[in-house]
Amino acid sequence: MLLTKKIYGLTTALLCAFSFNVSAEQIEIKFSHVVAENTPKGQMALKFKALVEERLAGKVTVKVFPNSQLFGDNKVLEAMQLGDVQLAAPSLSKFKKYTKKLQVFDLPFLFKDIDAVERFQQGVEGQKLLNSINRKGLQGLGYLHNGMKQLSSSSEMKTPTDLNGKKFRIMSSDVLAAQFHAVDAVAVKKPFSEVFTLLQTKAIDGQENTWSNIYSKKFFEVQDHITESNHGVLDYLVVTSKSFWKSLPKDIRKDVKAALDEAIAYGNGIAAQKSTIDKQKIVDSKRSTIVTLSNEERQQWVEAMKPVWKRFEKQIGKNVINAAIAAN
Ligand code: LMR
Repeated sequence: MLLTKKIYGLTTALLCAFSFNVSAEQIEIKFSHVVAENTPKGQMALKFKALVEERLAGKVTVKVFPNSQLFGDNKVLEAMQLGDVQLAAPSLSKFKKYTKKLQVFDLPFLFKDIDAVERFQQGVEGQKLLNSINRKGLQGLGYLHNGMKQLSSSSEMKTPTDLNGKKFRIMSSDVLAAQFHAVDAVAVKKPFSEVFTLLQTKAIDGQENTWSNIYSKKFFEVQDHITESNHGVLDYLVVTSKSFWKSLPKDIRKDVKAALDEAIAYGNGIAAQKSTIDKQKIVDSKRSTIVTLSNEERQQWVEAMKPVWKRFEKQIGKNVINAAIAAN
């Protein structure tokens, strides 16, 4: 009896020690983002989780926090530097405090379409930019597409003068501020989580975003007009902290990176689909009118906004801008 008790006690102790060790060795990756799950980024994050947990079962777990649940876009990179989150994919327009070089992606009318963006990102200069945030303790792991930006507003916008005096929400980018100032509009930097309410309460007149974000966050329900301007790109930098990345055992890091690359390819496929499907859903809803621009009208926008390039040329680097132009 005594012996049985002793064996039982020993087994329990061993089991406890074993399970403690296992959980202590499990690596947890928190992936925080601000968009809905039915978006390219939302789907990419879930795909990444599925791949990692299938291939690295018992070794790595991934927790995805969508819709700014864990961190909004103003806080996530600081939280990453502190080790409170391991993975995020903020829009390329949200890295101003970390590098000026990524501002290239915000230059209006620089990229012809998303294929040109892809060519630039995969080219020599685009790949170098993944390391542009290293000095701040961060590491770019890859780019993810969302799509080209459209401009929504409570009033119709066909020519640049239609924007005069109107208030537009922008991401935290000085280039985007300059882009709106170039057409005498007011630019208001606000986090993504606040955009719907700002539009609904008419605190602002409009905003710029992709079809996918305009649809999934219901901006089209509170905006009467969307100009199909394709005036800029909204893509993401998938980012981690250098210290977390280095802390991963080599084989695990390799598997995590492979899963990430696959998830990004999957997310890019979703982005391509959503840029037409979500646009069509908005058209079908009849809640918002889509305004298309004639070539002459579009040219007026280009002429009004393109001078912004020159102002940021020094900060970004002429070689980077030229590489982007060449990708067209
Ligand atoms: C925005 O703030 O408008 C976007 O960056 C949101 C996102 O992550 O797509």
